[in-house]
Amino acid sequence: MVELAALADRVRACTTCALAATRTNAVPGEGSPTARVLFVGEGPGYNEDRQGRPFVGAAGSFLNQMLASIGLSREDVYIANMVKCRPPENRDPLPEELAACAHFLDEQIALIAPRVIVPLGRHALSRWFPGGSISRLRAKARRVEGRLIFPLYHPAAALHNGGLRATIEADFRALGDLLASLGAPEPSTPQRATTHPPPTEPPAEAHRPSTTHLPPTEPPAEADQPPPGGSQLPMF
Ligand code: URA
Repeated sequence: MVELAALADRVRACTTCALAATRTNAVPGEGSPTARVLFVGEGPGYNEDRQGRPFVGAAGSFLNQMLASIGLSREDVYIANMVKCRPPENRDPLPEELAACAHFLDEQIALIAPRVIVPLGRHALSRWFPGGSISRLRAKARRVEGRLIFPLYHPAAALHNGGLRATIEADFRALGDLLASLGAPEPSTPQRATTHPPPTEPPAEAHRPSTTHLPPTEPPAEADQPPPGGSQLPMF
């Protein structure tokens, strides 16, 4: 898609924050421009900075494995980060760096229009759930700003804490179930307008009033029906 390529060029040329001075390569993101799922990491690490590509180190190998476990490849999804340039020594991105870079992710979301966004880890989580806890919010779909947000632990968490591996595997299976419940890929014709009953479950955390909690164990929706627990919010 021309617009995504142009956006990537702007990311590579960006000098808005101090990370530009220490990067080897900016890492705009990669994947399908029409992906149904957008994964959002924290920021490039050493290997990503060298190659200019997201999730190409050890955490990336685990992410690839997890994608394969639910029948997806990197080409099926889009992979981006909160900040597009590596923070030195892999420190956490600073608030001003996150703020300076946020519009790039917003633009990626608008262009790709994914049905599901998967924040990986607490930094990405905070884009949709400021102050939220990844351990409490993980592996449940909630609607924020009209899109389904399905947070997962960052893949690197499994590398640092082997005990989390089984949890992350199970959480990816739940993501696969959610995607299956959404049915066939987006039709090319506009969706017909339908009214839906209000959600029966309150949001788990009241950060955003429009958030809807969608249990991943809901039965599959019909291909042309709204997702389980669909609300009066716009379809995604
Ligand atoms: N960790 C991230 O958050 N992003 C990457 O691209 C690689 C590792």
